[in-house]
Amino acid sequence: MAGASAPEGPSTTSALFDVTGRVVIVTGAARGNGAAIAAGFAAAGAHVVRVDRIDLPPLPPVEEQAPVAGPPLDLTVDLVEGRSASGVLEATLDSFGRLDVLVNNAGVSLACDDPYADSPDAEAVWDRTLAVNLEAAWRLARGAARIMAGQGSGSIINVTSLGAVRGFPGNPSYQASKAALRQLTLALARDFGKQGVRVNNLCPGYIHTAMTDASFRDPQKHAERLSHMMLDRWGMSEDLVGPCLFLASDAARYVTGIDLPVDGGWLARGL
Ligand SMILES: NC(=O)c1ccc[n+]([C@@H]2O[C@H](COP(=O)([O-])OP(=O)(O)OC[C@H]3O[C@@H](n4cnc5c(N)ncnc54)[C@H](OP(=O)(O)O)[C@@H]3O)[C@@H](O)[C@H]2O)c1
Repeated sequence: MAGASAPEGPSTTSALFDVTGRVVIVTGAARGNGAAIAAGFAAAGAHVVRVDRIDLPPLPPVEEQAPVAGPPLDLTVDLVEGRSASGVLEATLDSFGRLDVLVNNAGVSLACDDPYADSPDAEAVWDRTLAVNLEAAWRLARGAARIMAGQGSGSIINVTSLGAVRGFPGNPSYQASKAALRQLTLALARDFGKQGVRVNNLCPGYIHTAMTDASFRDPQKHAERLSHMMLDRWGMSEDLVGPCLFLASDAARYVTGIDLPVDGGWLARGL
């Protein structure tokens, strides 16, 4: 029996991966993974909306032949504050009239002497971690999904972590937040799939950024982490760009509700 026919869409390889003119929000875009992802979309000709708590540095220059969609829309906001998520979505629609991709990348991993103590410090770390990593991502994803459903298409990429699926020491709020975000992806994928909205998890391994700099520089921790990586090197933020472009593009038009690990083989490694 013949199945439903595939939707109309680009068929040449370059068109499949083309994100020219797409409107893309990237949170936490001032540095690290978010900066690389935003720069990658800009270099591919997308209209980029960069969101961060801190001032956003200029985008790196793009190749001369690259399609240029124009300067990014930069929004300096703390995503845990009140109506910041709806403000970001409204500003995006005001500027570009649509929203094609949301990359929920902003995240924190906060130090705490004893995360299991019944103390104000431990409470504050728990609250802030859940507020940034889960609740802010939820509010943006909720609004973005509704906009995309109205358009009949869109891609939401939630940046999770190995900590969403494996046990790591000393950071229970980070793990809980990322595991909940991972599952939120499945709920959204289920509820908005019929309206053409795809929702996926991008799961980075150990990437050298400000977040991981202390363990990158500590010889023992550096080597311990490296020993899990089948590709035998720490990740760079730029390693996340291709997988993000894939999930955002029509090349992934039948992909929803997945985890895409970008971890140098960490999760797949046996001995
Ligand atoms: N690096 C890794 O190895 C790794 C591995 C797995 C997953 N990840 C995930 O990848 C994402 C990016 O991590 P990264 O390593 O690039 O970290 P990073 O270098 O610390 O960058 C995170 C960015 O997000 C911003 N941000 C944090 N809270 C925010 C808020 N409330 N509102 C707006 N912006 C906010 C930060 O600004 P402020 O610092 O000023 O708040 C910072 O610019 C995070 O979700 C992280 O959990 C990273």
